[in-house]
Amino acid sequence: MSSPSSAALPPGAQRIGVSLPAGSYEVLVGPNLLPAAAELILARLGRAKCAIVTDDNVAARHLPVLEARLRTLGLYAGSVVLAPGETSKSFAALAPLCERLLALGLERRDLVLALGGGVIGDLAGFAASILRRGIRYVQVPTTLLAQVDSAVGGKTAINTAQGKNLIGSFHQPSLVIADTTSLATLPPRIFRAGYVEAAKYALLADAGYFDWLEQNCALICAQDAAALCRAITIAVAGKAGIVARDERETGERMLLNLGHTFGHALEAWAGYCDRLLHGEAVAIGICLAFRLSQELGLVTRESSLRVAAHFAALELPTAIGDIAGPTRPEVERLLGLMRQDKKITDGRLTLILVRGIGRAFATRDIAEDRLRAFLAGELAAAP
Ligand code: GLY
Repeated sequence: MSSPSSAALPPGAQRIGVSLPAGSYEVLVGPNLLPAAAELILARLGRAKCAIVTDDNVAARHLPVLEARLRTLGLYAGSVVLAPGETSKSFAALAPLCERLLALGLERRDLVLALGGGVIGDLAGFAASILRRGIRYVQVPTTLLAQVDSAVGGKTAINTAQGKNLIGSFHQPSLVIADTTSLATLPPRIFRAGYVEAAKYALLADAGYFDWLEQNCALICAQDAAALCRAITIAVAGKAGIVARDERETGERMLLNLGHTFGHALEAWAGYCDRLLHGEAVAIGICLAFRLSQELGLVTRESSLRVAAHFAALELPTAIGDIAGPTRPEVERLLGLMRQDKKITDGRLTLILVRGIGRAFATRDIAEDRLRAFLAGELAAAP
């Protein structure tokens, strides 16, 4: 994890490399990286005009410091501040964003800086991928979810009426700067929802990391600097390895969707709102994947209960019945939403199931009737 260039990093920061055939990039994780971001960008990517894309909430907290350092170094081209929330991940927001970036005079070697959470990272990354047929961009994630997952790996996207992330591209960032200090202002519920994506990586590939998360989750949620940095670094390093082996998600990368086929369906049913955050939907989805695997005789009841107990201890939902509000989805509606999954081929869903903690696998062998019966059982148990 360390390298000669770590010496240039602020104290406590870690460097993870993502190695790809088309080139490698670094993910820098640690406290107080935002005030140093302009210098880190200049040192690693050279002199380039930088246009920041962010949202109102993040701008209020973090934009002035980034703008000021870029200005001082003569790198600043301008900022585009969007409305916060999933509605900005749309064709309606993409078009004016691209025009604005072009108006700022960005050329191929210049940089888009995506400052914010998953929505900003996905949208700004997609804009960068189509501007002048692809310009460079830097992810500066300010949520835990974006730092452990969405800012790394080059998936960019917008949503349409048909579903989330159905229009997008693979376009790798040139650098990722994850300042753990920027997480201090996150509401605890948003922080815990982001934590789910770290636990997801443990549950799909790294049982030892899950043991460590169980022992350290209280410290992580209290934002102890060392524990938080270690949690993010392990998840990112694990994801970096998977992305390096399967950038375009033809095999192993699919495992990173553990809990997401169920989760996306629940999120869509709930209407992509505060009622059910993405990470919360994934927590339920992971528990469903474990319980379905248990019903199929693949994983022990003890492992399923252990995973649910871990999420419950962090006040995360673990079953459909834990979703706030009086309504519950119909089984056929959930199945219909699951069929929108991007991993569907020849009409068959690819599900990510488990043979144990840290042992996920992809399968297309689960018959729809089996899934229907499983979901009916889960809904029958929902209050
Ligand atoms: N978030 C899943 C992936 O990047 O592949």
